[in-house]
Amino acid sequence: MGTIKAAVAPSKISVKQWVDRVLDDAKFNVPAAKASAYAPSNIALSKYWGKREASFNLPVTGSVSISLAGHGTHTKLCVIDGPKHQVTLNGKGLDERDSFVIKLSQWLDRVLPNNLKLGVTTVNTVPTAAGLASSASGFAALTLATNNLMGWNLPQHQLSALARLGSGSASRSLWHGFVKWHAGQLPDGSDSVAHPLEQQWPNLRVGLLTVSSHTKAVSSREGMARTIATSKLYKQWPQQAQDDLATIEAAIAMGDFETMAKTAEHNAMSMHATMAAAWPPLVYWQPESLAQMQKVWQLRAQGLPLYLTMDAGPNLKLLFEAKHQADVVSAFETVEIITPFS
Ligand code: DP6
Repeated sequence: MGTIKAAVAPSKISVKQWVDRVLDDAKFNVPAAKASAYAPSNIALSKYWGKREASFNLPVTGSVSISLAGHGTHTKLCVIDGPKHQVTLNGKGLDERDSFVIKLSQWLDRVLPNNLKLGVTTVNTVPTAAGLASSASGFAALTLATNNLMGWNLPQHQLSALARLGSGSASRSLWHGFVKWHAGQLPDGSDSVAHPLEQQWPNLRVGLLTVSSHTKAVSSREGMARTIATSKLYKQWPQQAQDDLATIEAAIAMGDFETMAKTAEHNAMSMHATMAAAWPPLVYWQPESLAQMQKVWQLRAQGLPLYLTMDAGPNLKLLFEAKHQADVVSAFETVEIITPFS
């Protein structure tokens, strides 16, 4: 990793000041008329759950994820005349009061020259806000497209930090394959960036079991804040997350599927336990989620090496190897198979 610009930070730097510093050299670049980019969605194997600082989206612990190849976000940008950014999501123009438009406009206003307004056309190939991390691919694609539009030519780690300002998990969505996001220590988050892991696992499969694609009532952001504030079980989480991250990273390096997948499932279940112990209690599962989880455990008890992980939503992500794909497909009719290293 190269030198991280803006690494020496006063303790109370604002997000805007940090952004201005990172984009200093590119400040007077003339934008291209249009630009586009794609970023894959990602599923954390060891989760990011809790922030040590909210305005920069700085995590309490590091995390590691697998990207979902062709499942993600395509974003097109063009310069427009007008007072506000205009956002289209999956073919539908969004109102300026929509929470997605507000978040996205705030990010754009931080990084663009004054008064530059954009038309943003976003197409998600994963259900939005159903726990399939579409905000991750959304902000990663927006970051990459803006880098292209503005000719920033920023190194990848700085793009990761800029994507993180939109949504923490977006810092991991700039790459395919396994990606590790470092917690970092600096107050301005310059060292809280992700990088891809070398290991390729062509036999790894991820199965998406969509229980519901409705927008969830409590966002991840709100959920993690509530958990930290009220859940006594959260106290043990940072240590476990750190240990799980190390175990999963080592298992990935060794190609040890069982250890990787078992630790990922244990990590997800432990994260959900911290949420259930929050007040008011936070349970993202639907009855159907639990039925599918029990089916996974039953199949595993019968000898199928099948594991699950879940994020802040009701949907399951199955982890298994290519040689068991036929068994998984016959057990779960609606499963959508992803080949992350395709
Ligand atoms: C459970 O990245 O959506 O999916 O940083 O507040 O935007 P914000 O949260 P977000 O949280 C993702 C939480 C998670 C776990 C993970 O992806 O690591």
